Amino acid sequence: MAEDHGLMSDHSQDDEEEQIELTLRPQRLRDYIGQAKIKHELSVYIQAAQAREEALDHVLLYGPPGLGKTTLAMVIAHEMGVNIKTTSGPAIEKPGDLVAMLNELKPGDVLFIDEIHRLPKVVEEMLYSAMEDYYIDIVVGEGPTAHPVHFPLPPFTLIGATTRAGMLSAPLRDRFGIVEHMNYYNQDELKQIIFRSSKIFNTKIEDEGAHELAMRSRGTPRIANRLLKRVRDFAQVAGKPSIDSDTVSKALDLLQVDQRGLDGIDRKMLLTMINYYHGGPVGLKTIAANIGEETNTIEEMYEPYLLQIGFISRTPRGRVVTPAAYQHLGISYPTKK
Ligand SMILES: Nc1ncnc2c1ncn2[C@@H]1O[C@H](COP(=O)(O)OP(=O)(O)O)[C@@H](O)[C@H]1O
Ligand SMILES: [Mg+2]
Repeated sequence: MAEDHGLMSDHSQDDEEEQIELTLRPQRLRDYIGQAKIKHELSVYIQAAQAREEALDHVLLYGPPGLGKTTLAMVIAHEMGVNIKTTSGPAIEKPGDLVAMLNELKPGDVLFIDEIHRLPKVVEEMLYSAMEDYYIDIVVGEGPTAHPVHFPLPPFTLIGATTRAGMLSAPLRDRFGIVEHMNYYNQDELKQIIFRSSKIFNTKIEDEGAHELAMRSRGTPRIANRLLKRVRDFAQVAGKPSIDSDTVSKALDLLQVDQRGLDGIDRKMLLTMINYYHGGPVGLKTIAANIGEETNTIEEMYEPYLLQIGFISRTPRGRVVTPAAYQHLGISYPTKK
């Protein structure tokens, strides 16, 4: 069975990849491809906030990794014409860390907290008054001399990103005026992203090559860009002046990314369910233990896409492999279960 070849690994991004992501990031809403409903809504809220000369309401972005949450946070700040300070839930270990970040904000600025579901509880609780009324109460001194200090903040916008909104506590979630669910991108949008990126990379890609790549990108811009980079290498070594569909197929077959964008782990998961559990229903924990992945990783990275393309379904008794998945894997669907 194929090993994980890093297509999905969101946490092991090397510096080079980060650099590339930076150069590929659209700066303005009009250059941000897809997510039409979100873009439309945000453009209204941004215009309204600007007309009132107020900070934009707090924004929560949720959805699987690589769909453009960080990019969108930066675009929002850019459109508002304000600075953005970026941090992440696990990076803010204690209240003092948050105070230091808040202290740097100017009126209207954006504070972006990635993986906001991983904020320590004490820090999260400080955010409540910061978000609602723009102040924090901090305790200064120790023992008998300890006393609270009321610390006013400039009006600011908190943008939080998380892979699953369900992991946020209700009090935190309720303090976001704008909550947007990011969706997987369709083939057409992915093609546009691929053409845009290949221009930035100074590489030619044929229409059919872009189509093939879009099909295999799991509806995810980050994966489309990552695969484009690898395919470009194959085309170069093969001496092709532009990336054609044949090069894409060959390269991605070699990388074990199949026609629907499934990688080794997706296949391992489906095959485990089929071979050992008659296609389900099987519980998430059981699947995770069998394929040696964390339940969180499965729930956040693998399952959403498989659900989206209808390869698995959720039932009260667990996950079930659908006939479409059997067909894709070339396994006949058991007539009697
Ligand atoms: N709507 C989009 N249009 C163009 N490129 C995008 C879009 N969304 C994401 N990308 C590209 O995908 C990469 C990953 O996006 P990112 O914002 O880091 O995702 P997330 O924060 O949701 O994990 C970025 O480098 C960016 O180039
Ligand atoms: Mg991100």
